[in-house]
Amino acid sequence: MTEGFDIGARAKARCDLLGVPPYSEVDGQLTRRFLTPAHAAALSALEDWMRQAGMSVRRDAAANLIGRYEGEATGAKALIIGSHIDSVRNGGRYDGPLGVMLGIDVVEALHRAGRRLPFAVEVIAFGDEEGSRFPASMSCSRAIAGTLDASALEMRDAEGVSVAEALAAFGGDPAGIASAARKPEEVLAFLEAHIEQGPVLEAEGLALGVVTAIAAQKRIMVKIVGTAGHAGTTPMALRKDPGPAAAECLLALERICRAGTDGLVGTVGRITALPGAFNVIPGAVEFSMDIRAETSATRDAAVDAICAEIHAIATARDLKAEIHLMQALAESPCDPSLIGILEEALSDLSLPARRLPSGAGHDAMVMADLCPTAMLFIRCEGGISHNPAEAVTEADCALAARAMLTFIDKLERR
Ligand code: GLV
Ligand code: MN
Ligand code: MN
Ligand code: MN
Repeated sequence: MTEGFDIGARAKARCDLLGVPPYSEVDGQLTRRFLTPAHAAALSALEDWMRQAGMSVRRDAAANLIGRYEGEATGAKALIIGSHIDSVRNGGRYDGPLGVMLGIDVVEALHRAGRRLPFAVEVIAFGDEEGSRFPASMSCSRAIAGTLDASALEMRDAEGVSVAEALAAFGGDPAGIASAARKPEEVLAFLEAHIEQGPVLEAEGLALGVVTAIAAQKRIMVKIVGTAGHAGTTPMALRKDPGPAAAECLLALERICRAGTDGLVGTVGRITALPGAFNVIPGAVEFSMDIRAETSATRDAAVDAICAEIHAIATARDLKAEIHLMQALAESPCDPSLIGILEEALSDLSLPARRLPSGAGHDAMVMADLCPTAMLFIRCEGGISHNPAEAVTEADCALAARAMLTFIDKLERR
């Protein structure tokens, strides 16, 4: 089938286009966090592209951008295709946006062919998968799934701005956030295409993979509290310095996770010594912990062991440890019947249907509370992600778009 445009390759080109200001907050890198002017600029561009693809477009109370391509009958159940438009700080151009752009390409192909389906197709650009501005993540897909806790709106960014304040300034509706929730009877399924963010497909010479399940994760903030003091006058033996204690905690986390099974991984991605000066013994050290595993049980056993060690390390040094759980997401299996349809779609394209789990979190894991979900992985160079060096090929993006169209054909005939 020829669409009159380079399906998939155009999706990649659009991700590239959004990789610089005004679609990035920072010159020379891609940083596009939730509810920033860069997020607004990206939504404006997407809105135009969605309309050109034949969709009606709206924004919901949670700042999700939703394009809808009606089916044969207006108001039919929707197949939702989506991913996120936000990025980590200094991130790559494809983690998230590629899934949105591929959705637009797929709808445009249907539109240009004059095809209407027994179901509607919606494309959603979620705004907050990464949680790179506020402490928790996935607030936009949670709002759609109807699982967003009101307390999430009170979380604050590093400048002290709350989600509710930022959302109101962005044109969203924090007081009416419940209106973003979709009813299960309105939704047929959710399909997310995403770069693999790991090295498996490339190592096996495969362009695409079918996701079986998404790993469970927890986000935890730890604060080790000591006594601030003068770096020159306080003898080593008389200090209550949380710095070395934090270092011991990081080593304990690494040891416990290295010894783990079931894909257990642990990361400390943020460390802050307070107040933060050469010549001040810190009064406190704060650090984040991101712990993931294939099952919540494995993850929780590791979290319990790490937290016990943190308390023991602090006590041994006469310090105090404060530990706060910021977010917990259970493992999320993809729907077995949709996995089967995706596998058939890959076989139809003469591609091996490699099944693989996802260690990265995705909006699909939240959408699973609303409807059956499927995920298509796309090979990325060197498995590199959350890094400006993230790269995909036009050919792989084109195959992904073809696989999504074939998936839709099969869903239609089901
Ligand atoms: C986001 O990419 C995550 O997996 O945390
Ligand atoms: Mn990411
Ligand atoms: Mn992502
Ligand atoms: Mn992710």
